[in-house]
Amino acid sequence: MIGRLVVVGLGLIGGSFAKGLRESGLCREVVGVDLDPQSCRLAVELGVVDRCEEQLAAACQGAEVIQLAVPILAMEKLLVELAKLDLGNTVLTDVGSAKGNVVRAARLAFGEMPARFVPGHPIAGSEQSGVEAANAELFRRHKVILTPLEQTDSQALQLVDRLWRELGADVEHMQVEHHDQVLAATSHLPHLLAFGLVDSLAKRSENLEIFRYAAGGFRDFTRIAGSDPVMWHDIFLANREAVLHTLDLFRGDLDALRDAVDAGDGHQLLGVFTRARVAREHFSKILARRAYVDAMHSNDLIFLANPGGKLSGRIRVPGDKSISHRSIMLGSLAEGTTEVEGFLEGEDALATLQAFRDMGVVIEGPHHGRVTIHGVGLHGLQAPPGPLYLGNSGTSMRLLSGLLAGQSFDSTLTGDASLSKRPMNRVARPLREMGAMIETGPEGRPPLTIRGGQRLSGMHYEMPVASAQVKSCLLLAGLYAAGQTSVTEPAPTRDHTERMLRGFGYPVAVDGSTASVESGHKLTATHIEVPADISSAAFFLVAGSIAEDSELLLEHVGINPTRTGVIDILKLMGGDISLENQREVGGEPVADIRVRSAKLHGIDIPEHLVPLAIDEFPVLFVAAACAEGRTVLRGAEELRVKESDRIQVMADGLLTLGVKVEPTPDGIIIDGVASDSGSMGGGEVWSHGDHRIAMAFSVASLRAAAPIHIHDCANVATSFPNFLALAAQVGIRVTQEAKS
Ligand code: S3P
Repeated sequence: MIGRLVVVGLGLIGGSFAKGLRESGLCREVVGVDLDPQSCRLAVELGVVDRCEEQLAAACQGAEVIQLAVPILAMEKLLVELAKLDLGNTVLTDVGSAKGNVVRAARLAFGEMPARFVPGHPIAGSEQSGVEAANAELFRRHKVILTPLEQTDSQALQLVDRLWRELGADVEHMQVEHHDQVLAATSHLPHLLAFGLVDSLAKRSENLEIFRYAAGGFRDFTRIAGSDPVMWHDIFLANREAVLHTLDLFRGDLDALRDAVDAGDGHQLLGVFTRARVAREHFSKILARRAYVDAMHSNDLIFLANPGGKLSGRIRVPGDKSISHRSIMLGSLAEGTTEVEGFLEGEDALATLQAFRDMGVVIEGPHHGRVTIHGVGLHGLQAPPGPLYLGNSGTSMRLLSGLLAGQSFDSTLTGDASLSKRPMNRVARPLREMGAMIETGPEGRPPLTIRGGQRLSGMHYEMPVASAQVKSCLLLAGLYAAGQTSVTEPAPTRDHTERMLRGFGYPVAVDGSTASVESGHKLTATHIEVPADISSAAFFLVAGSIAEDSELLLEHVGINPTRTGVIDILKLMGGDISLENQREVGGEPVADIRVRSAKLHGIDIPEHLVPLAIDEFPVLFVAAACAEGRTVLRGAEELRVKESDRIQVMADGLLTLGVKVEPTPDGIIIDGVASDSGSMGGGEVWSHGDHRIAMAFSVASLRAAAPIHIHDCANVATSFPNFLALAAQVGIRVTQEAKS
């Protein structure tokens, strides 16, 4: 509970702040001050404040907090007035859209920045203005940026923080200069352009014509030119330096666009437009994901999987994730234009695609799985404008780190909360041995900062873990390293990199368990057909096996022998799976896979199959849970460092469903329910943001006696965006429950 809150300036923002806090009951008294008597009268009538004071001094005496919500250019005068008063311990704060000039004005007025002055800026507003538009909900789920200085009192900061949170705002802290630069770019520049464009068109003699035919694009782009001219005039004067800086950068880009139009340079235009289009979508995802990490539960996507079901039909699951990543990487490094079909339009592969766009590669699509990559050659990548954000995708980060170690420019790789916990020393250490300069976060976790311009030398590396990501990372670095780079794996892992390099005409030698490349060759553009992902098909292979009276055909699935462990394991468990119409497409073997219901039994999973089924264990555990007898997995500690700790997370969920499981350091022991009741129970399980866990528990519902609620399912979109639709099509009763 705080004592008196004084709000100076009863416009939309000040009025909404006062009203919201008055309604919250947090302040003993809310007092308004405004030069306009009409606004004061209305503020009391509308319940925005308890009362108004004509004199600033009278209002402020004994106030606990004073909110300064006057127009930004009026702030200087107001601060001079305040400096004359004895404010004691009163906390001051403001809502100005530019912070540098407020801090300057406060220093001038008070002699130094008062420690109990917390500068702030709510990013909220509406086309309406004045106290009559005051809305207690205006700041709910809006960002409020506070820009404390070094000397700012931490209690004062906490108090202001608390007031905004009470109004439902998301409060962030930033440095003053940073705030002004960010706002200049994201808010002030767009307003300047909108005002400028409308004025420029309106001045022309044919203006009536122009406005008569103005279409939606014009309306959308210029909506903000309807904003309050006086307020914006104030903002541009207040944030002069930062606006000039961002405007000059933009002018340079605009000139480049002009030159491209002048020169008929369609390639350049296509590059700018495709990058801009996806950047818009990409940034909104980053922002959504940041919110997801901050407030896990408010963004929880829940799947409701209803019990029972019988499967039938034929489907084609989305494109292979591993091959999709590599198609973008190698297509970008090739000379010429590469066409990709069947590309996985999931968030992981799209993160790779965006990274290459950020490095200047023009990539069209994806559109219905078609992507056109205008390759830049092995030495044609450009420095990205900022960190490359790779979302949830470990493959993107590990493969890119090898490739980027050989570039002339610096780069930083970041990811979401899950990726930020995954081990990167497995790639950083051998890359350093080749001469790369890489820094990781604490304990070898992301972010990775890679210094460009290093001379890499080829080496021989004996991989301690069987990892296709590590192998691929080093082979990609090898394209830039002097001499030969060779990698020996302790057990076979997926060989898509080796196959695809050859598909692009780059020689790769494979001798037993060792793959090697030499630098000095080039990649030539090609056509890639991405087969359906066996890791996505795996959910249906298990579903078709455990559901009664089922038969399902999975079309055009990649059956590269380094990926088919799931089929071998299911067959060992008694699964009825057959491969039809086997063929080779673009260097990768493909087949239609038929699966029928079967009585599965528990097995000791042969350890040599672990790397060949590494991504399929979550759903294989579900198969084991439905089987008769005990299944034992060993030698699979890698599962603990995937998108989640897949051993623990699956064990927790299966226990909830009443299955007897025992996690071990390198595997799990599962006693199938077929020997008892024949079905699992229902309940609430958590996928911990791991796509494959979410889908595995959806499949479990086929043999559950009650509904299963699966939390944290948003990341299914990383590898299988249309999972729910395909599952429903073949008879799995899983739907999205709620998105709060
Ligand atoms: C992948 C390799 C595997 C796999 C991942 C994709 C790849 O990881 O789990 O989903 O595309 O190279 P590891 O190499 O770490 O086993």
